[in-house]
Amino acid sequence: MSDTRHPAAGGDARSDAPARLPDHVVTDRLVLRRWTRNDEPALSAAITASVEHLRPWMPWAGGEPVTPDDRVRWIDSCNHAWREGGDAVLGILLADGTVIGGTGLHRRAGPDTVEIGYWLHIDHTGRGYATETARALTDAAFGVPGVDYVEIQHDRANTASRRVPDRLGFTMMGERIPTDPPAPGEDRVHWAWRVTRSEWAGGGYSPR
Ligand SMILES: CC(C)(COP(=O)(O)OP(=O)(O)OC[C@H]1O[C@@H](n2cnc3c(N)ncnc32)[C@H](O)[C@@H]1OP(=O)(O)O)[C@@H](O)C(=O)NCCC(=O)NCCS
Repeated sequence: MSDTRHPAAGGDARSDAPARLPDHVVTDRLVLRRWTRNDEPALSAAITASVEHLRPWMPWAGGEPVTPDDRVRWIDSCNHAWREGGDAVLGILLADGTVIGGTGLHRRAGPDTVEIGYWLHIDHTGRGYATETARALTDAAFGVPGVDYVEIQHDRANTASRRVPDRLGFTMMGERIPTDPPAPGEDRVHWAWRVTRSEWAGGGYSPR
C-alpha cells in the first residue's frame, strides 16, 4: 500500500490554481518523487544505459543524449509546471536512492482524468516495479479532488506496457490515433485503458 502526501490538501497551492498532482508517493519498494537538479547525473546515466530499450516507444528518447545543462533545464521546467498545477513528472527510485525509471501523472485528458506514464531502466524490468508504480499512482490520483478516472495509454505494439493496466484490472476502452510525436516501434494506434474512482475504491476490478 502506498503512502501519499498531497499538497493540495494542505500545501501551498494557490487557491485559484488547479489542485496540484501528487509529487511524493512511497510504496513497499519504491519512492516516486519529483526530480531535483541533483538527480541529473543518475537520471542521465539511467537513460543512457536504457536508450535502445526506450527509443522504440518513448518519442523523447530519439533526442538522447542531451547535455547535463539541458537536462537540468528540463527538470526545472517540469517542477515549474507542477507548481502551476500541471503534470507531476516523477522519478522512480529504490528505497536506497537508486534511480530505476521515470513516471508521471498527466492532465492532458481533461480535469476529471489523470493519465499515468512510465519507463524503467533496462536492468530493473521484470520485477513488477512499473505495476507497483502505476498501482500507487492510481491510489494517489484518486486522492486529488475532482479526479474520477485514471487512464493508461500505450501503443498497441507495446505488449510490456499493455500488461501493466491489464494486471491492475483497468478496462480497455478502445483505440485512439495519437497526436504526440511518433516513436519508431509504434503502430501509431494507441490502446486506452481506464479505471473509475468507484471501481478502484470498491475493488470491483480483477487484478491479474
Ligand atoms: C513498459 C515497461 C515499464 C514495463 O516494464 P516491466 O518490467 O515489464 O513491468 P513491471 O515492472 O510491472 O514488471 C512486470 C513483470 O515482472 C514480473 N514480476 C516479478 N516480480 C514481480 C512482482 N513482485 N510484482 C509484479 N510483477 C512481478 C511479472 O511477472 C511481469 O513479467 P511478465 O510481463 O513477463 O509477466 C518497460 O518495458 C519499459 O520501460 N519499456 C520502455 C518504455 C515504455 O514502453 N514505456 C511505456 C510507454 S506507454
